[in-house]
Amino acid sequence: MYDDLDTPCLLLDLDVVESNIARMAAFFEGKPAKLRPHFKTPKTPEVARRQLAAGAIGITVAKLGEAEVLVDAGLGPILMANQVVGPLKIDRLMAMLARGADVTIAVESEFNIRELADGARRSGQHPAAIIEVDSGMHRCGTTDPKDTVALARMLEENGIRYRGIMGYEGHAVLLPEEAERREKGSSALAIVNQHAEALAEAGLPPEIVSVGGTGTFDLSGSWPGVTEVQAGSYVFMDGRYQEVMPGKFDCALTLLTTVLSVKERYAVCDAGMKSLTNEFGPPMSRDGTVKVARLSEEHAHLTGEGLASLRPGQKIEVIPSHGDTTLNLHDWYNVTRGGVVVDRWPILGARKFK
Ligand SMILES: Cc1ncc(COP(=O)(O)O)c(C=O)c1O
Repeated sequence: MYDDLDTPCLLLDLDVVESNIARMAAFFEGKPAKLRPHFKTPKTPEVARRQLAAGAIGITVAKLGEAEVLVDAGLGPILMANQVVGPLKIDRLMAMLARGADVTIAVESEFNIRELADGARRSGQHPAAIIEVDSGMHRCGTTDPKDTVALARMLEENGIRYRGIMGYEGHAVLLPEEAERREKGSSALAIVNQHAEALAEAGLPPEIVSVGGTGTFDLSGSWPGVTEVQAGSYVFMDGRYQEVMPGKFDCALTLLTTVLSVKERYAVCDAGMKSLTNEFGPPMSRDGTVKVARLSEEHAHLTGEGLASLRPGQKIEVIPSHGDTTLNLHDWYNVTRGGVVVDRWPILGARKFK
């Protein structure tokens, strides 16, 4: 199988991608909250286009480079769930707006609002922003609702369109126990609600309240006051997420690798750190019988009960434990249906870390 594919390379099962998109779309059908899927997972307009066609209200990105890929593909509206800091990046944002792109960004400091206002004046553009709230993950974001209100006012006073708030419960999404995930997720969402209420009381009700990831999509998608959910991983479902929420969505992404050497206690294949990541634990073979016990630059050590059946030259599929960082190392998806390659999609958003 896959005789024509040189390894290591990515396989993307289009049937599974389509079914994951359809399942998530069905959840949001008729709900007040809508889906704005995160591009950090698929990184290809081919998937974003299908998500929008299935009812997503836009796309979330982490980086300007990802937004530029979507704008080039004519896709949006875009929510950048991250800050745009420094004049070089701010000018890139303004250039996108000058092309007519619909991009809303996140802010969390007075400093950043001032420099955005300067950039807007320089370029004659009118950026839009939401305020990032720290809902317990302790990454970026305001903690005191008073600060959120002050930033919202400051946006308006500086000619930047204030649209609302976001909070990402990243500390909850991957918790393996569903009860704990819901408890921590609920606390985070309650914090976001407090900020939204303070804004409403100040006469600045948020039009956008954006939250959520794959591990909390059903909680956050049903939470009062939430207008949109930023889930991304559901579309490919990597190894870690399958452990956390088995059966909700299926695995669409695997890495095809060739066995180079088979020893008594281990085997070695041609997927090293340059093509596969393991920061979310050991990647497993698709059939679950061997795991990647160790990664070096160009090689992986395989161990497990399936070792005895491996032969040099054999190609096996490995499920990345973290899909996003693995696919970020590649330039192409080999798109399959029923085990047959039917297309090749460029991963245009790969390595767009600026
Ligand atoms: C701000 C933000 N929103 C949404 C997501 C998507 O989360 P998930 O991968 O759980 O779908 C992430 C993931 O890192 C994120 O950082």
